[in-house]
Amino acid sequence: MKEKSQEYDNKSADSQRIREPAHFDLLSQMPSLFDEQNVFVQPASYLDSIIVGNCEQVLDALPDNCVDLIVTSPPYADQRKSTYGGISPDRYVQWFMPKADRFLRVLKPTGTFILNIKERVVDGERHTYVMELVIEMRRHGWFWTEEYMWHKKNSHPGKWPNRFRDNWEHLFQFNKTKKFKMFQENVMVPVGDWAASRLKNLSETDKQRDNSRVGSGFGKNISNWVGRDMVYPNNVLHLATECYNRQHSATFPVALPEWFIKLFTEAGDLVLDPFNGSGTTCVAAKRLNRRFLGIDLSEEYCRKALERVVREEVGSHINQDEKQ
Ligand SMILES: C[S@@+](CC[C@H](N)C(=O)[O-])C[C@H]1O[C@@H](n2cnc3c(N)ncnc32)[C@H](O)[C@@H]1O
Repeated sequence: MKEKSQEYDNKSADSQRIREPAHFDLLSQMPSLFDEQNVFVQPASYLDSIIVGNCEQVLDALPDNCVDLIVTSPPYADQRKSTYGGISPDRYVQWFMPKADRFLRVLKPTGTFILNIKERVVDGERHTYVMELVIEMRRHGWFWTEEYMWHKKNSHPGKWPNRFRDNWEHLFQFNKTKKFKMFQENVMVPVGDWAASRLKNLSETDKQRDNSRVGSGFGKNISNWVGRDMVYPNNVLHLATECYNRQHSATFPVALPEWFIKLFTEAGDLVLDPFNGSGTTCVAAKRLNRRFLGIDLSEEYCRKALERVVREEVGSHINQDEKQ
């Protein structure tokens, strides 16, 4: 098998330079990203980097099994044609799978892939490309471990003749093996108001394991929750959208990648977003002290993403200085 280089290929780096506008002050605080003519140079390493390019080609330069978590939101079929092109829903699976194969190769056996996606409506019905994609991913060796849902807390009302507003999106969890890293304690939530009234006067049944009456094998012992302040969350994330001020038309909120980064990685682990956009995943990774790699076709988005990450860096120094 072909040896993969740890370092990003310098030849392709040379062919992908970005000119640096003078007003981009914050970036000058990362001098390693500029050559002597103050021209942005693709990073020599894939760690803590934002790289312009097609994720297929960029990932081909990475070694096998080097990424701990992939969190991404690819272009949805035929959406945002005017900003970064659309993919026909009928061709979506064909477009996505060569990329998914690369994600599988670079992901560690203990790693996780979170895919944020949504079906569009075509000719009055939901297109089935998302379902077809899940089935094809399984054929290519992925385990479809779980589905989380992103409930968009802040959507405004709308009116359609035959449906209501789209108010949620899929967050599919795929894994390479069934033994992936997971740190459930990192995302625990307050037990909630129900506990005060429900746990006040426990019946005898509440104090024993109450097995499911439909014979599912599941059971619960309500008294286990007495005295607990924090409990495990469910698989719905209630998060507001954050499209403002990011100069990108399809951002997800920082809290979304943050939640999965806490759940599936440890400090120092590598988080990849192969459709990086404005760099939300990289910002979350940086905040949580993880390494990051963001890839995007658009030079303009990479520049914005880099600016956001640098602001994070500068901000964290400021916070540290304030603490001292
Ligand atoms: C939905 S947006 C991602 C938004 C991102 N989650 C954020 O918060 O800003 C999808 C991005 O994928 C990029 N893209 C499309 N095809 C790509 C490819 N083959 N390789 C890398 N990036 C690609 C687009 O330029 C776009 O910025």
